[in-house]
Amino acid sequence: MHCIKNVTKDLIWVGANDRRLAMFEGVYSVPDGVSYNSYLLKDEKTVLFDTVDKAVKQRFMENLTYALGSKKLDYIIVQHMEPDHSAALSDLIALYPKMKVVCNAKTLNFIKQFHDFDIDSKVIIVKENDTLNTGKHTLNFIMAPMVHWPEVMVTYDSTDKILFSADAFGCFGALNGSLFADEVDFNKDYMDEARRYYANIVGKYGQQADALLNKAAAVEIEIICPLHGFVWRKNINDIVSKYALWSNYSPEEHGVLIAYASVYGNTENAAEILSCKLRDKDIKTVMFDVSVTPASDIISAAFKFSHLVFASTTYNAGIFVSMEALINDLVSHNIQNRTVAIIENGSWAATAEGLIRDKFAKCKNIKIIETGVSLKSSLKKEQAAELDSMADAIFKTFPEFITKPGIKEENKKQAKSSIDVKTMFKLSYGLFIVTAKDGKKDNGCIVNTVSQVTEKPLTISLTVNKANFTHDMIVKTKEFNVSILSESTPFSVFEKFGFISGKNTDKFAGVNYTGVAANGIRYLSKYTNGVISAKVNKTVDCGTHTLFIADISEAFILSDEKSVTYQYYFDNIKPKPKVSKEQKKGFVCKICSYIYEGDVLPGDFICPLCKHGAADFERL
Ligand code: FEO
Repeated sequence: MHCIKNVTKDLIWVGANDRRLAMFEGVYSVPDGVSYNSYLLKDEKTVLFDTVDKAVKQRFMENLTYALGSKKLDYIIVQHMEPDHSAALSDLIALYPKMKVVCNAKTLNFIKQFHDFDIDSKVIIVKENDTLNTGKHTLNFIMAPMVHWPEVMVTYDSTDKILFSADAFGCFGALNGSLFADEVDFNKDYMDEARRYYANIVGKYGQQADALLNKAAAVEIEIICPLHGFVWRKNINDIVSKYALWSNYSPEEHGVLIAYASVYGNTENAAEILSCKLRDKDIKTVMFDVSVTPASDIISAAFKFSHLVFASTTYNAGIFVSMEALINDLVSHNIQNRTVAIIENGSWAATAEGLIRDKFAKCKNIKIIETGVSLKSSLKKEQAAELDSMADAIFKTFPEFITKPGIKEENKKQAKSSIDVKTMFKLSYGLFIVTAKDGKKDNGCIVNTVSQVTEKPLTISLTVNKANFTHDMIVKTKEFNVSILSESTPFSVFEKFGFISGKNTDKFAGVNYTGVAANGIRYLSKYTNGVISAKVNKTVDCGTHTLFIADISEAFILSDEKSVTYQYYFDNIKPKPKVSKEQKKGFVCKICSYIYEGDVLPGDFICPLCKHGAADFERL
């Protein structure tokens, strides 16, 4: 019996789930199963996007033939030739002999390697930006090499604004009756599996994943259809913003992953004591016994946290086997931008520390903390201070907003006295990062409208788009800081605070240049020439935005550097949009370079990336 689901009126999910598979790709445990997604587009022509794994082929064939009804299959688009998505290809060729196979040149070779049918008479080779019209729908092909194999391409249906994303945005876990991510609590129940999927399957190819994200940013996407896991039709930025971090090897959270290999429990004991010492300093820690926890879980956690501690016994004059395998895996997954500390143990000739250090020398931007600990069999009282030193050394590498969260009440009372009115001279028609704090959650966004309103009392006004999470935080807490950006601000800061939603992402992860103002809210201590803290006393609803009028509680100057003006940003910081021949018609967002394709830009159009309105677009 078929089991299908509609994605849209024209698009049907015809995939299937496997909950019996123990190890995906023979390597990754999938305790909650896995889905193999295949999608059927029923237009004047019928088009299938990929097939499924052989384990679920029978269910898939039932689904497909039922969904097709009396129609034949006209096209299959092979986006990814890995057998978990192409096992049914030969069966379809036999069933629909007139069907055309749409793929790129690399895929063609792979089809010949994996299958034996006569592909040459059926193939339509496509390349970057080629299109296929199926009646109402136009399918645009976008190459995505190495996300996760070299032949991978994705397809953008510009009619319904659907991105068929192949392995990108996929997730482990079978679909249990829900097809859409918004039907489950994805952030709570599935984000860890999405990270584990990304880190292990695509993690090595961050640069290529980032290239795909940049291509995807140039089109308007309403639905994402990956080959595994849920379809995204709401809150797409929840997953896209995670990919922006993961593909750049930016940690999501400041915290310490402690992985240990311990034969008789003594190395474990040292690791536990270190964890306690870090927790005593309010530093988040997670611990894994590498002989017990599968490597894929630890690799996933390594993509999440900023600091990694490896505690290993010495074994056969080398690193303990399971620890060595984990570190080899991490290195081959291209782990970067992390701070690492090492504890070694050796009863007669400890070697693990040096060998681990050598392995990470191959990785980019791995800072190894020099204060290591070398145990001889077990930790003795007289060596406990060395773990204190290591905890201190790790603690010192955390940014100030973690190590000095909040400030004392008496400082808050003095805040009024620390207003340097000259900070107001830094305000221009420029760009600013507005930050807010709600409980433990810090967030910030880019705004371009901050100005002084009155001198006595000293007030400023600020407008914030309602679509920004920071907006809601200010509405709730009535307090915010303004970091006045200077001309040295790199584009990456605008990307980080302007193009990613803070709803489910820590925008400050990896940002080591922040301070905490008297109101307990963070500000940027670099790329900023002045900081203003303010308390809202009036709000004005301006439709898409809220205008906040606020009393200044603190203001100070950080540097003499010039404030960045809007003009300076456009002329010197914002990359010029790259417009391909195929994108001649359309509009480009002057703020973030997002491209809207079409002859007419709707007056109420809001940039999906930076949330600016149609007024900030110009014709290509
Ligand atoms: Fe599920 Fe790279 O394939």
